[in-house]
Amino acid sequence: MGSRIIGCGKALPQRVVSNDDLAEFVDTSDEWIYTRTGIKNRRIAIEETTTDLGCEAAEKALGRIEGGWCLDGETIDPASIDLLICMTISPDMVVPSQAALLKARLGLPNAVAFDLNAACAGCIYGLDVASSMLELSAFDGRRVADGGRRTRNAMKRALVVGSERLTRLVDWTDRGTCVLFGDGAGAVLLEWRDDDPGILASFLKNTDDVDDVLVTPNFFDMSTFPFAPAATARGELSCAGMRIDAPDETVAALRAQQGGEVLEAMESAFIIMQGQAVFKFATSAMTEAAQAVCERADVPLSAVKCIVPHQANERIIRYAAKKLGVSEDLFQVSIAEVGNTSASSVLMALADAYASGRIEEDDPVLLVGFGGGLTAGAILFQA
Ligand code: ACO
Repeated sequence: MGSRIIGCGKALPQRVVSNDDLAEFVDTSDEWIYTRTGIKNRRIAIEETTTDLGCEAAEKALGRIEGGWCLDGETIDPASIDLLICMTISPDMVVPSQAALLKARLGLPNAVAFDLNAACAGCIYGLDVASSMLELSAFDGRRVADGGRRTRNAMKRALVVGSERLTRLVDWTDRGTCVLFGDGAGAVLLEWRDDDPGILASFLKNTDDVDDVLVTPNFFDMSTFPFAPAATARGELSCAGMRIDAPDETVAALRAQQGGEVLEAMESAFIIMQGQAVFKFATSAMTEAAQAVCERADVPLSAVKCIVPHQANERIIRYAAKKLGVSEDLFQVSIAEVGNTSASSVLMALADAYASGRIEEDDPVLLVGFGGGLTAGAILFQA
């Protein structure tokens, strides 16, 4: 028994932006970007929203529109979806959640919907949370069948969507980050099956980002904030990355109270990254997560038929392959045309793996990711 992936889809915005296009406004080159990252093009959402992208990916996973992969080749009844989790760091709104916006657009009358932020490892965390909820529900269902009381929502199908319009969080004057990211969405439909193993094991881990190697401060409009800094709790301010948009004297007072450096770094709503530190973290985190999940599932890495990693940098994937002692060919590498799409990335690459036919029924498949937070995780499932 277990949560089985029965549908998968991805969506991309229309606009293709090449490395040469970027070289027109930042000091970079196709050669630098491609050799350092493996990226040639990325898609940028000009018109499309996070909801548009997530919706299209989900419709493909549900078999409502062409272009996705569906295990049984049938269109899924929207009323049968009990849960929708959306992983994103670039939602269209804070409230309603991105998942609630998707639920409404997709017309899923019975789904419970909420967002989950684990940065680029989001889809690993989202799949684990969704499958855990399905498993607990199945456990509850057995208790009800034995004459006991229901203690939680009955859930059999969960839609897990990663959707990002990340290019809204990018400083387009910073060549160190703007060349890396792109927009897109990926979706997976999970179904609890009593006679299928589905997800075999998971591994999640957070490492404190003490050196702020990967940060995207929040945006708060402070222009109407009527309280003098002295009345504001010091702890709250120092742990909240915030852009200060307030009268000059308020900003000056906050600076004095907080210390210039902290606010300086936090006064932007952009992705701020120490590339080499993230690179180092990524290779060891992916290796640890992949090995741990195989051990938990009691499946040797040598038996895994396909590894779908977070698509942050092709060199990170190659290093991880080397550290794990497996062939690079085992890895689904989709980064060249889409760049790093954060929480969408693993599910988009999984959709590519299904579309290309490289995943066959019963294959052990490994998903592995890392991201800001610092988060890392892996899922091993039987296709
Ligand atoms: N074009 C040309 N030159 C550049 C560019 C660019 N786009 N960006 C940086 N450079 C320059 C630097 O200024 C530096 O110049 P200098 O030597 O004169 O100082 C030189 O290139 C080397 O810079 P490094 O940062 O050392 O380059 P590196 O080989 O580390 O590659 C990169 C940078 C691609 C960012 C790499 O470190 C990396 O991929 N890190 C991981 C990033 C990542 O995985 N991010 C995931 C984010 S996940 C999430 O949760 C959002």
